[in-house]
Amino acid sequence: MENSGYQVIVHKGPVLEKEKFIVFEGIDGSGKGTQIFKAAEYLFNHNKLIDCIVTREPWNSNEAKKIREILKNENDPNSNSEQLLNLYVKDRDKHEDFILESIYNNKIVLSDRYYYSSMAYQLGQGADLTKIIEKNKRFTKPDITFIIDVPAKVAMDRIKKNRNKLDKFEEEKFLNEVRNNYLNIPNYLKKDNIKIINGNQPIDEVFYDIKIKLEEIL
Ligand code: TYD
Repeated sequence: MENSGYQVIVHKGPVLEKEKFIVFEGIDGSGKGTQIFKAAEYLFNHNKLIDCIVTREPWNSNEAKKIREILKNENDPNSNSEQLLNLYVKDRDKHEDFILESIYNNKIVLSDRYYYSSMAYQLGQGADLTKIIEKNKRFTKPDITFIIDVPAKVAMDRIKKNRNKLDKFEEEKFLNEVRNNYLNIPNYLKKDNIKIINGNQPIDEVFYDIKIKLEEIL
């Protein structure tokens, strides 16, 4: 993990090298929510000296509340790209403090979404990629990031099965663009440890692929 300037005052933990920051990404309906808990369960059992924290973005700042209102009340996936980019980054600023504090307190942190979501969704909304990268480059890099990849149609079918009311971004054409944006991220974030995982398989097979990669960093 590369530290972006957070000041460590006291560190009491004996197992610093085991502390990890792991991110799960993917389009809505990709199954990353299921996989993050399978990973947390695996890590919790794997190392009995260290706890796991599962967290998410949007986090729980005031900006996140505003984001959730927008996601619920708007229908056009392309509207408000600039406003959302700024809100997600401000929320991330506060979330990062929480993540780093947890890591310095000897936790493995697993986050459901992080700055890669801005590079996939806000780019899909029409925000400028250079600007998105510029605003996000100061954030701490995860040790490993899993992008759970599924076709937009598969994701939409899963979402519709579970819910009647759809969020702003839950539209097939938009999610297809977001998916392509995700697949392109490793081409320009070359220093990030990103693994693309085929999410269009049974849950346990998806997790098997994740577990193999996780073991490489433990
Ligand atoms: P949420 O209901 O938490 O969706 P999910 O369970 O799929 O994570 O809403 C988060 C939405 O916010 C999701 O559609 C992706 C979007 N998002 C962005 O557009 N940019 C970002 O930087 C982040 C963190 C999320």
